[in-house]
Amino acid sequence: MFTGKRDISRCLRLVEEDRAITSPAAKLPYYPLVVKRGRGATIEDVDGNTYIDFLASAGAVNTGHCHPKVVEAIRKQTEDLILYTHVYMYHEPIIELTKELLSITPGTFRKRAYYGLAGSDANDGIIKLARIATGRPKILAYLRAYHGSTYGALSMSAVSLPMHRGLGPLLPDIYHVPYPDPYRTPFPGMTGDEVADFAIEQIRTAFSTNIPPDETAAIVIEPIQGDSGLVVPPKKYMQSLRKLCDEYGILLVSEEVQQGFGRTGKWFGIENFDVVPDAIVMGKAIASGLPLGAVVARADLMEKWQAPAHLFTAAGSPVCCAAALATISVIREENLLQNAVDVGARIKNRFLEMQKKYEIIGDVRGIGLSIGVDLVKDRETKERHGEAAAKICYRAWERGLLLSFFSGSVLRIQPPLVITKEQADSAMDIIEESFEDFFAGDIPDSIFETVKGW
Ligand SMILES: Cc1ncc(COP(=O)(O)O)c(C=O)c1O
Repeated sequence: MFTGKRDISRCLRLVEEDRAITSPAAKLPYYPLVVKRGRGATIEDVDGNTYIDFLASAGAVNTGHCHPKVVEAIRKQTEDLILYTHVYMYHEPIIELTKELLSITPGTFRKRAYYGLAGSDANDGIIKLARIATGRPKILAYLRAYHGSTYGALSMSAVSLPMHRGLGPLLPDIYHVPYPDPYRTPFPGMTGDEVADFAIEQIRTAFSTNIPPDETAAIVIEPIQGDSGLVVPPKKYMQSLRKLCDEYGILLVSEEVQQGFGRTGKWFGIENFDVVPDAIVMGKAIASGLPLGAVVARADLMEKWQAPAHLFTAAGSPVCCAAALATISVIREENLLQNAVDVGARIKNRFLEMQKKYEIIGDVRGIGLSIGVDLVKDRETKERHGEAAAKICYRAWERGLLLSFFSGSVLRIQPPLVITKEQADSAMDIIEESFEDFFAGDIPDSIFETVKGW
């Protein structure tokens, strides 16, 4: 019986207040946590309880909370200039950042960048850019993908009914095809290569029936499909997709809002597949938590659209750019790409060990520090075990770890990339204890009054 009682009274009081006055549309809580401060891979709540963070603010703080170099860069920039819109003037941080982004993105061709405020509007921009640059209207995206909440990004998303219900009409000419899933395969027992071939064939079928390829501007794909539960596609699929795009003059866009900036142990997730896309969409971790989105694309594409096709007053603000520049140097100086590989392997191995013991762990997958642990009621049917996911995450929080799940049943392991081996080991001990609590029937159903989740 777990008896780790803590004082969370101030958290509970503030949660009540928040719930009464803020919009429910943006609220998918896992537990009543009111965050006060964060340092590195740890968080403290307003009652003084501390937690290891396996969520990194939804993958948005890869350099860890309040990294001193990022804080200093923000402070210094705010003393000089917080905002002068890049729409009318120029400023140095955006030029410096752009040079860095062009150098860390794959592809030896000439590139250019545009900026926004978040992943969502960066995705809206890619729809516009692809349409203008190719003169074609149609966009292919993926079932179960999440690309954001603006109308364009939402139109490319297909992850949740409440997200769509009553909101139409969405943007026309956006189609969704199945993402290649090597765990929940279209037919039982398929290999990764077979899944890849099958999924490519489905696009070819669409191209020969209802989606003329010569009217298709772009295929927008995440290198790991995040919110559907960190589904890692077969390498063969990504490489075949590149060939398919080349065959029909379609742009291949790697949507890296969640997987970029070192999360997978490479600057960008697509690099794990040895594929060079025509454009990369960035957001979240790019500025260590400040609002910034960006797209780096082939320069010849960007040279086809003209102002004011896509602009925002505060996009690429000097402060956000300074934070992004500091983010890039911290990732380099602290070797965070390697840390993501090393600690990621350590965590994954521990889950693979646990999988031998716990039948409910159906699949352990991921690259670097982007790991999904798929909980199932039955390894044969792969029926999702939503109750286990919710209860284990809730208990992990009670024991001192911020753990979350998505797609109803997939534990989401995306800590800041600065996490140490020791912190990762402690977090894994907490997870294992929480599994034991779950099997002992020691996590009450009453948690469902709080847990909503994604
Ligand atoms: C893959 C992906 N794309 C886009 C977005 C939207 O980013 P933002 O919330 O910054 O607009 C998200 C956010 O969760 C995401 O995971």
